[in-house]
Amino acid sequence: MPQNLLFTPIRISKLELPGRLVKSATTETRCTPDGFVTDELIEYYEQIARGGTPLLITGNAYFNLYSKAGPKQLAADHDDKIPGLRRLTDAVHRHGSKIFMQTYHVGRQAIPRFVGRMDAVAPSAVFEPSLGVRPREITRDEIHETIRGFADVATRSQEAGFDGIQIHAAHGYLLSEFLTPHTNRRTDEYGGTFDNRIRLLVDVYRAIRLRVGRDYPVIMKLNGSDDLPFRKGLKPDELVRVAKRMEEEGLDAVEISAGHYESGFTFERGHWKKFFSTVTTIGMGTNLPWYHRGSARLMAPLLDAMLNRFSRYSEGFNLRYSKLFKEALRIPVICVGGFIHREAMEHAITSGECDMVAVARALIADPYLYRHMQQGVEGPQCNFCNACYARGAMFPVDCYDDEIRAHRDRMLREEAK
Ligand SMILES: Cc1cc2nc3c(=O)[nH]c(=O)nc-3n(C[C@H](O)[C@H](O)[C@H](O)COP(=O)(O)O)c2cc1C
Repeated sequence: MPQNLLFTPIRISKLELPGRLVKSATTETRCTPDGFVTDELIEYYEQIARGGTPLLITGNAYFNLYSKAGPKQLAADHDDKIPGLRRLTDAVHRHGSKIFMQTYHVGRQAIPRFVGRMDAVAPSAVFEPSLGVRPREITRDEIHETIRGFADVATRSQEAGFDGIQIHAAHGYLLSEFLTPHTNRRTDEYGGTFDNRIRLLVDVYRAIRLRVGRDYPVIMKLNGSDDLPFRKGLKPDELVRVAKRMEEEGLDAVEISAGHYESGFTFERGHWKKFFSTVTTIGMGTNLPWYHRGSARLMAPLLDAMLNRFSRYSEGFNLRYSKLFKEALRIPVICVGGFIHREAMEHAITSGECDMVAVARALIADPYLYRHMQQGVEGPQCNFCNACYARGAMFPVDCYDDEIRAHRDRMLREEAK
């Protein structure tokens, strides 16, 4: 079996990448309150690019108030964002890496008043239990606005020098909600049959493709399983069918993840430590209605125990799904979830379970992970405690384990000398 495939080139559409590691999207909470790029955001990306990471994917960029999850999130909602986004792509390109913009609509997994609106929209008015939100059904006009919104982001991303775009259709956000029968109970042309539930994703893809042309890489993040037992969630075979259909449309690659929020955050499997108490005392949960926040705080130890039971960490935890996509597709399949060791990444690729590996948390702990793996050096190691995730949307993305963070900061200071 060939070795070191992790460091061999691969193409996404016509874009050649020198290696197989991708920075997966992490919402960075490092922009201005209205979503403009800041120096703080650029610095974060530059570190990962300096570490040699071949491809970086941005945190989820929104395009209007209903698609937004929190303040300081990256926005691509107006042309006035383009100069800042251009500074970001220039900074990454200076270090020889490529960068894609991830774009999404948050759907029902948002606390409306946190972003200054009255309600949340979703395919149907199905209650979201983790945030206690009952959305209203999105109207046909809003669906058409959404399609235009995605397409406008694609135009801006191309103008700002991004090397490609990722459509976020995973994790129970709007596009994922449309695919899933549990969250999509519509009776119009966007609900019911497979062709109807995939219609919005196809419409969004076609609108983007029309704007960017055939050769611009357009990829997608998709669940390999919805992890919604007893709730009409999608299973791997149905999701492979979604990916196959998108490949026929012309999609250039797919990144495989899993789960909605109400699955117990199975896309973030970890060693959950004080997650719910952190979320409800200093995290996004402080914006929940008092009764919801209070009950979550009281039940925090029990909820954390449940996460540790049902959303438990293992390295490469989505490989069981990505290999099914590999069997069915010709486009590159990227697997995300729990990767940290070079051996595990190499094994995943050489054994044909995926073509590329995406990493989020291990790069927060060690932005030089790629270079370190090439050189056989051990840098700061993520312990998957999910303290970074618990602070999401409220604090800048960072490592919040004191020891690991101190190790990383020492390493960065020494590099700067
Ligand atoms: C702080 C944080 C923010 C995240 N933001 C996003 C996001 O904006 N878009 C997305 O698709 N996934 C997001 N994720 C999920 C990651 O991309 C990835 O799927 C998940 O963390 C599993 O990969 P890992 O085990 O390498 O961390 C986020 C994860 C973390 C920890």
